Amino acid sequence: MNLPIQAVILAAGRGTRMKSDLAKVLHCLHDRPLLEYPLVVLERLGVSRPVVVVGFGKEEVRRYLNGRARIVVQSPQLGTGHAVQVAVKAINRSGGDILIWPADMALLKRETIELLIREHRESEAQLTILSSLMVDPTGYGRLIRRGGWVVDIREELDATPEEKRINEVNTGVYLFEPAALFHTLKKIQPANQKKEYYLTDTARLIREAGGRVEALPCAAPEEARGINSRADLALAEKIVNQRNIQKYLMQGVTVVSPEQTFIAPGVRIGQDTVIYPWTYIERGVKIGRRCHIGPFAKIRSGSVISDEAVIGSFVEVNRSKIGKKVLAKHLTYLGDAEVGEGANIGAGTITANFDGRKKNKTWIGKKSFIGVDTVFIAPVEVGEGARTGAGAVLTRGTKVKKGEVFVGIPARLLKKKSQWRRPSSK
Ligand code: UD1
Ligand code: CA
Repeated sequence: MNLPIQAVILAAGRGTRMKSDLAKVLHCLHDRPLLEYPLVVLERLGVSRPVVVVGFGKEEVRRYLNGRARIVVQSPQLGTGHAVQVAVKAINRSGGDILIWPADMALLKRETIELLIREHRESEAQLTILSSLMVDPTGYGRLIRRGGWVVDIREELDATPEEKRINEVNTGVYLFEPAALFHTLKKIQPANQKKEYYLTDTARLIREAGGRVEALPCAAPEEARGINSRADLALAEKIVNQRNIQKYLMQGVTVVSPEQTFIAPGVRIGQDTVIYPWTYIERGVKIGRRCHIGPFAKIRSGSVISDEAVIGSFVEVNRSKIGKKVLAKHLTYLGDAEVGEGANIGAGTITANFDGRKKNKTWIGKKSFIGVDTVFIAPVEVGEGARTGAGAVLTRGTKVKKGEVFVGIPARLLKKKSQWRRPSSK
């Protein structure tokens, strides 16, 4: 029987190429730090409490991890081999195979790791390297093969011009048989341009000891990209966003211009909804069917948009419930609001939900008609079918009853009964 995998995430490096005071692994990719990506995949693979090697920015990283992993501190940081030497102190020698995952490899999918595990077990290798074929391999370690077998890995700085032409690269992700790793880790020397202890040397050492080293080329090269610089981060951002959007397209959502649309994972969007460009939708948002969102809309976490609502240009919705067929077409902020079915929100409507101390709610009734430029100083309540005049300012605690019309600054009752009927088309 195969023992469960043990995992080590390498996260001690400074990430010099990021040019930042923040540890590289805490830089955000989409809306989550890089470190979150391996953690999520490992959780899904059932790997419990991986070992995370921390160093640069260790206190911040520790705070972020908040008990989700076993932490080992590498100080000073003498290279990836040294990082693993430190990590194995927290690893069970007679436990399952050891997966090494550099935290800057955030684009790897669960399926790829599963394949790596399967291949490693089937081939009974001591080491299986996840490799990748790259048109431009610059900066990566190259796989050196002899007669088809992997015999070594050469870093860019140490490579001969000929070796630099090899385009099978090391992704930095490996699966080791524990004994082979423990044995060869002791032998690595900082005999390279950077004078670091390279984990990559274990490949050669395992070979020399008569062991078997395999390499599995990653099917999707985009997954194999390490994030070393802000340029890499920007590219990764694009990849993650397009992966997310692809899912929504498959579910029957029209995204007019995927490149110009940002949707977090885990958003629910109903069929036949159309998302116009420059829209930004945060995690956890729910959007119904046949809605129109954007252009230039921002829908923030905690918001629910019901079927056939229109959230138009320059509209921000935050922690709000928007009823069916609500029209909020232009220049509006709805924060901590509940808007009833069929309400019409005029351009420039703002909920002043924050009084400097706490957030307050605004209730806007069904089929109400909110005049342009209305300001709701929350908490405020507007009844069903009520109306506000253009430029009305509803001060805190105002209650507009069903059908009433309020106008002015501060807004006062103008009429007990409004005649407005919502037109039947959008
Ligand atoms: C490494 C590989 C290279 C591979 C590339 C893939 C080595 C020697 N080279 O190079 O073959 O092509 O990844 O992206 O392994 N880290 C520590 N402690 C250290 C040094 C690094 O924890 O002392 C961590 C870093 O935080 C990072 C990871 O190890 O998450 C990789 O380090 P990095 O410096 O980015 O290695 P590369 O130069 O990219
Ligand atoms: Ca790297």
